[in-house]
Amino acid sequence: MTDRIPFGKTGFKVSQMGMGTYYDPGWIFSAKLLKRQTNLENKVAAIRAGIEQGINLIDTAELYESENLVKKAIEPFEREELFIATKVWPSHFSYDKIIRSCERSLKKLGLNYIDLYQLHFPSRFRDISETMRAMEHLMDLGKIRNIGISNFGLEKTKLAAESLKKHEISSTQMNFSVAHRDIEKDLIPYCKENRIAVLAYYPLGHGRLVSPDSRSSVVLKEISEKHGGKSPAQIALNWFMSKYDFVFPIPRASNEDHVRENSGSMGWAMSEDEIKKLEQSFV
Ligand SMILES: NC(=O)c1ccc[n+]([C@@H]2O[C@H](COP(=O)([O-])OP(=O)(O)OC[C@H]3O[C@@H](n4cnc5c(N)ncnc54)[C@H](OP(=O)(O)O)[C@@H]3O)[C@@H](O)[C@H]2O)c1
Repeated sequence: MTDRIPFGKTGFKVSQMGMGTYYDPGWIFSAKLLKRQTNLENKVAAIRAGIEQGINLIDTAELYESENLVKKAIEPFEREELFIATKVWPSHFSYDKIIRSCERSLKKLGLNYIDLYQLHFPSRFRDISETMRAMEHLMDLGKIRNIGISNFGLEKTKLAAESLKKHEISSTQMNFSVAHRDIEKDLIPYCKENRIAVLAYYPLGHGRLVSPDSRSSVVLKEISEKHGGKSPAQIALNWFMSKYDFVFPIPRASNEDHVRENSGSMGWAMSEDEIKKLEQSFV
């Protein structure tokens, strides 16, 4: 069974690899407007395969039109074993709308609480203190167990943290991978210091890192040979785990075989030298 590690300072424990459920704009369009969710059964099977491998962190969003799919996928499993994260879109950041969005997400997910409720992007129009007042109210009602943010740079993260009165920010979610390391300059040190968990989206570069260019291929092959034949995806995901104990990659789960392969990114570690070589190969 996959190890569980602390999720920031929240007291919750999760698998270091999570699963994402964003299936691209065409899929969202079809689900929202045509009420057609293509390959629903495969996607449900992929999430279930991940849970069976011990992965308990699942990420969705009201925007993705996949909350109902997550509901179906998690039905056979123990609720308390799972850590379900969803997100609210900025056009719903007023006090009243956020409460309504949360109720809608709870219904779609078939849950009576959300483990992690995240602000999907900062809003240019709404004062963050109004939004956070609603998030704190949802915490007090027990409808959400943790407050998260996503796509907030360092200054906006600080502002969001300061606008909370009773609770704290548990996590942030950012574009982060071995080939896209911008947040290591500022946000990662801040999160480390404040014990904020980081969910890494596009951990496989939206698929690009599984078919790397020739320079990275040489390094990946070398690392693979030293670690029992690990695949490029497993190495790209293990990079997070070898380097950080508070960063949680959430590769998309839409294919059972990929999910099983990706879960083999956990439970082993690269040396510092290998980490450096891998990073340099993607510069
Ligand atoms: N907060 C935000 O603003 C934000 C933005 C974007 C995404 N996200 C979250 O992050 C999650 C991950 O992002 P993402 O899905 O766009 O990018 P990703 O996980 O970096 O890449 C997904 C792509 O990699 C492929 N893949 C996965 N495992 C593979 C393997 N072992 N071998 C070969 N190909 C593999 C997938 O194909 P298959 O589908 O066929 O497996 C898919 O094409 C999303 O699902 C979502 O939950 C958040």
